[in-house]
Amino acid sequence: MHHSSQLNCVNMTLKLHPGQYKDMLGCKLMGSEVIIREIKIEDVADIIRVANQAFLEDARRPSVSGRTLVNCLSRFPKLQLLAEVDGEVVGFILGSIENDKGKIALLAVSPKHWRKGIGRRLVKALEDRIRKAGGREVVLGTPFARGFYEKLGYKCHNIEFKLIKELPYSTISRMDSDLSPILFNDLKTIVKKLGHDEALKFLGAYFSAFEAKGGKAYKLMGDNGVRGVIVVAENKWNSELLEITYAYPSEGEVMIRLAENVVVEASKMGYRWVGLRTYSKELADTLIRRGWKEAHMAEFWTMYLMKKEL
Ligand SMILES: CC(C)(COP(=O)(O)OP(=O)(O)OC[C@H]1O[C@@H](n2cnc3c(N)ncnc32)[C@H](O)[C@@H]1OP(=O)(O)O)[C@@H](O)C(=O)NCCC(=O)NCCS
Repeated sequence: MHHSSQLNCVNMTLKLHPGQYKDMLGCKLMGSEVIIREIKIEDVADIIRVANQAFLEDARRPSVSGRTLVNCLSRFPKLQLLAEVDGEVVGFILGSIENDKGKIALLAVSPKHWRKGIGRRLVKALEDRIRKAGGREVVLGTPFARGFYEKLGYKCHNIEFKLIKELPYSTISRMDSDLSPILFNDLKTIVKKLGHDEALKFLGAYFSAFEAKGGKAYKLMGDNGVRGVIVVAENKWNSELLEITYAYPSEGEVMIRLAENVVVEASKMGYRWVGLRTYSKELADTLIRRGWKEAHMAEFWTMYLMKKEL
């Protein structure tokens, strides 16, 4: 198999495997050379164009990819690389390093150049530079390139599940939930219940919800006072998705009750989906049994955290 594709390469038939062709003949790709070089400030517009073409989720937003690029470029200029074919930017990789931990912040190749070995070369080139800078491992999070990174020796060590519940056609018979709005007067009690560190997280989400569309904070009361709190806000990119941005407790029966009550609230407001992020496989499995799904939607995608020792 290997042999025949090499023959194809030599004959330049269209059946050749471009990755192997490139490996055989140095950096050539279908007769054109792929150049990997550092990103310069003049390349910014080309990089954003590639990101917009390659990404389905929020990395295609110029605000997100652009800010990441500017930040990486100013802090680690030697770890920002691009791939060029015939003078055209066709891919890029953004990296960073803290202590001995390297990171891939963003990687993209123009769709028309996928599966030609360009992504692999960009990753390898960045790994070399991270190693030279003293890095001993590389980490990253990816929504849909897990298989690609596994081929390059990365292992998935954690998953940030993004779960959604689709509301149209769901059976929601109640109009009102068991939740009530959190008032300013409740804050003291809630903060006391949560403890310092947890309270900071809650307050962060609570005040962010003031500015977000659909932003609301609810409490679930029990016989002994507040049992749980939950904050929601409309997803920044998707106005039909109401996201749970904070929940306490973050797992267990009360959390599931909170989430299902948010579904009632969201249905009342006419949202199409409720979304939830969690690292807990147990919570994810329980909600999936109750009709939630692992999200594979633009702007809200389960994220695989990958790692490789150098
Ligand atoms: C992921 C991405 C960068 C891969 O670039 P690419 O140039 O097509 O990748 P390569 O051709 O170098 O592929 C290297 C290997 O991974 C495989 N591969 C590529 N994409 C894959 C995928 N999505 N799933 C599984 N395997 C994949 C290739 O088949 C190849 O395997 P082989 O050597 O056995 O033939 C590109 O598809 C892309 O830009 N995707 C959208 C953006 C994105 O997901 N970025 C990563 C998140 S940070």
